[in-house]
Amino acid sequence: MTDIVVIGGGGHAKVIISIIKKIKDFRIIGYTDLADRGDILGVEYLGSDELLRQVIRDHPSVTAVVGVGMLKNSDAHKRKQLFDLADSLGLNLPPIISPDAIINEDVEISDGTVVMDGVVINSGTVIGEGVILNTNCSVDHDCKVGSFTHVAPGATLSGGVTVGKNVLVGTGAVVIQHKEIVDNVLISAGSTVVKDILKTGTYFGSPARLKL
Ligand SMILES: CC(C)(COP(=O)(O)OP(=O)(O)OC[C@H]1O[C@@H](n2cnc3c(N)ncnc32)[C@H](O)[C@@H]1OP(=O)(O)O)[C@@H](O)C(=O)NCCC(=O)NCCS
Repeated sequence: MTDIVVIGGGGHAKVIISIIKKIKDFRIIGYTDLADRGDILGVEYLGSDELLRQVIRDHPSVTAVVGVGMLKNSDAHKRKQLFDLADSLGLNLPPIISPDAIINEDVEISDGTVVMDGVVINSGTVIGEGVILNTNCSVDHDCKVGSFTHVAPGATLSGGVTVGKNVLVGTGAVVIQHKEIVDNVLISAGSTVVKDILKTGTYFGSPARLKL
């Protein structure tokens, strides 16, 4: 069993906790957050992130998962700060992969990434660090997903898509095959990307266009 502490106690953390429980290889020590949100699915509040040093003293081989989600690009910055904090404390951030996700052959998933229930990742795809592949999203063959990007529930990356860092591919959005999306882009929920997106910004609609 590997000890793990959850950093953050919101809705995203709750989903992660329920997945970690299904994996069974982990023992969840508790969660840290700025505020005490009470027990989350039976997991106790430990205190603020300051408490992490104490947790490491008490459980020297403890690992961590960042449970703070991403609803806009600026959240990626907050998430990165928490990853840096974990890193500075020497905490390992193993990828958390739901047993109810389908990960096909020849897929790379980096540390700190979470793969939720119902996700499908096809062969030849490389997923960076600290990525969120949210419930029921689909990442097809030969995609590249950059660090700290969030592919939201039900979104689809078709084959050969390259997505940069800190991108939010909104709920139910679709990216057709072989398109590229640069760093720090927000694809609005339900949009359809049919051309490369080479300029940072927020994109709406089908076909997705830059919001001016
Ligand atoms: C794009 C988005 C960030 C805009 O949020 P916002 O800046 O607060 O904008 P507003 O809600 O004020 O909407 C501004 C306008 O855009 C429209 N709009 C908002 N989201 C839209 C979307 N996904 N598709 C098309 N139009 C959209 C609104 O209807 C509104 O139109 P109006 O000015 O004619 O009334 C947000 O709607 C969105 O899609 N976020 C992604 C959510 C997501 O995927 N979350 C993942 C959860 S796990």
